[in-house]
Amino acid sequence: MADQPWAAVDEYICDLLLGSDPDLEAALESSREAGLPPIAVAPNQGKLLHLLIRSLGASSVLEIGTLGGYSAIWMARALPAGGRLVTLEAAPKHAEVARSNLDRAGVGDRVEIRVAPALDSLKELAAAGAGPFDFVFIDADKENTRAYFEWSLSLSKVGTVIVVDNVVRNGGLIDAETKDAQVLGMRQFMDYASTEKRVEVTAVQTVGSKGYDGFAFAYVTNL
Ligand code: SAH
Ligand code: DHB
Ligand code: MG
Repeated sequence: MADQPWAAVDEYICDLLLGSDPDLEAALESSREAGLPPIAVAPNQGKLLHLLIRSLGASSVLEIGTLGGYSAIWMARALPAGGRLVTLEAAPKHAEVARSNLDRAGVGDRVEIRVAPALDSLKELAAAGAGPFDFVFIDADKENTRAYFEWSLSLSKVGTVIVVDNVVRNGGLIDAETKDAQVLGMRQFMDYASTEKRVEVTAVQTVGSKGYDGFAFAYVTNL
């Protein structure tokens, strides 16, 4: 990948359009120091999530997969006064790092981190009548993506937007023989999305500092 221009172009885009951001940089630094994997969204992807939320006027956001709270900071900053982000994370250490990063960034008061396997938290949220969420970002264990998408639909309203990260997996998505559980998870999600009548879905391939991947974008049209 060293001879690919993607990472350098991402650097150009981020320098030109995003600039420096001490709280986001500190979030990445403290995540690194705590030994979290370096798999947060890229800065320009984080800003896309932020702008989507602002353009929708979304005030209620659900994230599945918190890690160190990097994408959560971008999204929480997009919320209007009184807006809420609920983010689901299974690993207590990740949640702890995220909590301190969100607090440092000054958005801790509008973010609830639920520390449990996301399927459990989703069940609880649905049982408690939580939602509907205006925007959902699915970015946790790829094996459960289809289930996360179905739960997200039950926590949605007409007009909710659901973004699913990492659907392309370096092109693995089209390998019908794959044994990779994460790729299989994404293939199962895509098959499901193609038949689900409550949404209109597209997917877009991406290249950049995180390599070759992509995201799916779903719009809830009827429930
Ligand atoms: N959205 C983050 C990155 C998330 S990485 C960002 O861009 O900054 C994926 C996260 O999902 C990891 O922190 C991992 O611990 C968490 N995860 C994995 N399996 C999970 C599960 N079953 N339930 C909840 N979280 C899970
Ligand atoms: C991985 C997970 C992610 O959410 C991501 O954006 C990139 C990589 C991974 O598990 O490898
Ligand atoms: Mg991801």
